[in-house]
Amino acid sequence: SAAEKGGYDYFMLKEIAEQPKAVADTLLGRIDLAGNLCLDEVHIPASVLREVSKVVIVACGTAYHAGMIAKYAIEHWTRIPCETELASEFRYRDPILDQRTLVIAISQSGETMDTLMALRHAREQGAKVLAICNTNGSTIPRESDAVLYTHAGPEVAVASTKAFLTQLVACYLVALYLGQVRGTKWGDEILSVIRELSEIATQVDQVLETMEPVRELARTLADKNTVLFLGRHVGYPVALEGALKLKELAYMHAEGFAAGELKHGPIALIEHDVPVVVVVPSPRGRSVLHDKIVSNIQEIRARGARTIVIAERGDETVAPYADHLIEIPATPTLLQPLVATVPLQVFACELATARGNEVDQPRNLAKSVTVE
Ligand code: AGP
Repeated sequence: SAAEKGGYDYFMLKEIAEQPKAVADTLLGRIDLAGNLCLDEVHIPASVLREVSKVVIVACGTAYHAGMIAKYAIEHWTRIPCETELASEFRYRDPILDQRTLVIAISQSGETMDTLMALRHAREQGAKVLAICNTNGSTIPRESDAVLYTHAGPEVAVASTKAFLTQLVACYLVALYLGQVRGTKWGDEILSVIRELSEIATQVDQVLETMEPVRELARTLADKNTVLFLGRHVGYPVALEGALKLKELAYMHAEGFAAGELKHGPIALIEHDVPVVVVVPSPRGRSVLHDKIVSNIQEIRARGARTIVIAERGDETVAPYADHLIEIPATPTLLQPLVATVPLQVFACELATARGNEVDQPRNLAKSVTVE
């Protein structure tokens, strides 16, 4: 009913708008006054976490994209090797697991059969399983050794939005916590990132307030056949997520690429007026990556692409090559997906609406996929 949608036309719009609160709720009570993480609710003793020799993340769809981003964070802050795998592929390739493997299963619903089967397989091999889940008491957390709940609140729209942002927050918390427990050389950085995480809800709110041009742009692209998305580092999974949202909602051909792969094939797809969304890493921090993506933007624009550039506010270098510039607040490199994904959600939702599609219930899809 209209009341359930809180005055919005679709649950998806309501859920996009709820993201600042969802992010804040997922952080709530998990950082103490001294700025340290307290995740006592994760019932895996610190002594076990200190012995972990490998982290394996399993998930599907949007949750898998959160897992891809988590890999960058976990390896950087903990120096533990980490791999992220599609849950549906995992158990069929005889993966190497033992008691020192920490498997992280990410799922909004907690009922996704592919993810459940992956975690059962991991536990049979003796691995410890930590679930990151949004649904209290669902099957995946019940069958795991421990759970860190995301506090996004119920997500009704089939296309995941606020659950994704809170999965990212939970992944960062786990990564930082592992770093804290194991004491890495990144101790100071960990403390400063924990502080910056507390600013994220406000920054997501700022992004939401500036979305009207993104909606206008989406409406002008309603008759396109294809949209491409480029990113690198943590911007690469963001590009994949932008493309997935567009497939699910707008039923358009959409593909995400690692920007560095462009010259290895995908650049052949660039032709006159193809919309290409580019997620630009922050110019501070990993500036080499930033420069490389700016030259990618120049290359595709020279071949006639219509460039839609998502970049940090004040990033002067990209503006000359952006047909459309979408500005996001400055964040630490690894946290950028929390703000960079939001315009892509809004973009897909508006394009779907412009094409007359049912936003909350896309064709052929179920909210929770309980068969393999
Ligand atoms: C997201 O927009 C999708 N509908 C889908 O990819 C989803 O993320 C995936 O099926 C995993 O679901 P889960 O998080 O409930 O396990």
